[in-house]
Amino acid sequence: MLKYVLSTIAWLEKLAKTEIIKEKYEITEVNDRLVCFEAPIEAIARINLNSRVGNKLYLQLAEKKLETFDDLYDLIYEIDFKKYIRENSPILVKATSVRSGLSSTPAIQKIAKKAITSKLLEGSSEVFLKEKEEFENFEIFILIINDKVKVLANTSGEALHKRAYRKYSSDAPIKENLAAAIVLLSNWNFKKAFYDIFCWSWTIAIEALMIAKNIAPWINRKFAFENWKFIPKWLIQEEIKRAKEKEFDWDYKIFASDIDYEVIEMAKENAKLAGLEGQIIFEQKDFKSFLEEKISWTLVTNPPYWLRLKDDDLEWLYKDLDKIFTQNEDLNWWFITSFENSKDFYKTQYKNRKLYNWWEKVYFYKKS
Ligand SMILES: C[S@@+](CC[C@H](N)C(=O)[O-])C[C@H]1O[C@@H](n2cnc3c(N)ncnc32)[C@H](O)[C@@H]1O
Repeated sequence: MLKYVLSTIAWLEKLAKTEIIKEKYEITEVNDRLVCFEAPIEAIARINLNSRVGNKLYLQLAEKKLETFDDLYDLIYEIDFKKYIRENSPILVKATSVRSGLSSTPAIQKIAKKAITSKLLEGSSEVFLKEKEEFENFEIFILIINDKVKVLANTSGEALHKRAYRKYSSDAPIKENLAAAIVLLSNWNFKKAFYDIFCWSWTIAIEALMIAKNIAPWINRKFAFENWKFIPKWLIQEEIKRAKEKEFDWDYKIFASDIDYEVIEMAKENAKLAGLEGQIIFEQKDFKSFLEEKISWTLVTNPPYWLRLKDDDLEWLYKDLDKIFTQNEDLNWWFITSFENSKDFYKTQYKNRKLYNWWEKVYFYKKS
């Protein structure tokens, strides 16, 4: 059995844990933004391909409670890096320390690099250690929490929230794994129509469709582990085949609308890239037109909260949204926003929980 750590968004650890349990792997520890588990080698491909809410999947190379830099050096030096790292592969060392004696991350990185280089140079005269902020890096992450050191290798490469379909986008959209998480939290039962009425680049609607069809979110991308020495080439192919066999189809009704014509065009491109062209019905539409309709769908959306709109306009927008909610008892609605005033406005009526989109605090509201 190998040991793994899946990083995720703060307060979504429970969803990440569910993804691991679904594959029948054994959870060993759940910490702030981290889910640790044990599983066979296939998990390296399976979790990378299938995790909707994960950020990065790490393989744990070593773990020990320790307090001195000498002990840290020894722990890292003992790892057989040549087993994992190809010759001349650039290596990147990252570090985080929380509530621990060894607290200086630059010093931790320096010691770690020294230990890794010495180990790799053992019996040879080649120099391996180069750093490039690129996908091909072999990324080592030294994580220290309460003096317990984990030496981790990033199996994903680029973080898992960057789905292959996200080519066309403007400004900072909702992170794909956060969008997937709010669809999962909405308990959409796939029978009702699903709506996003402020869709912008379509992230929420695309994630909803992928969840409905059980499409592995990462089926179209490359992972760092595919370049690792000890990983057989067939592993990823087998897991892609397995994931494709688990896809299913049905007559889902997923709608996405936005007032802006250009964003609808961009959303179409994103759907094409996701291989989901024509499977989401989209419209250029002002959400206010829903004030005149009786609706009973599942609505998961991310209303405007910044940019071109002034606070006063935003107040009105949120009041109209509230009217849509109250007029439609059968509407199962959820929305996520960082508009701070919405917290006071909705405080008394609606439940909310805090989450993070990138580094921005957001509130996720639900019908109570
Ligand atoms: C926060 S963005 C949604 C971002 C989206 N979740 C994503 O990840 O790409 C809000 C969207 O609301 C749209 N919008 C603003 N006013 C609107 C209105 N009256 N009716 C419908 N859409 C509107 C904007 O064009 C913008 O695309």
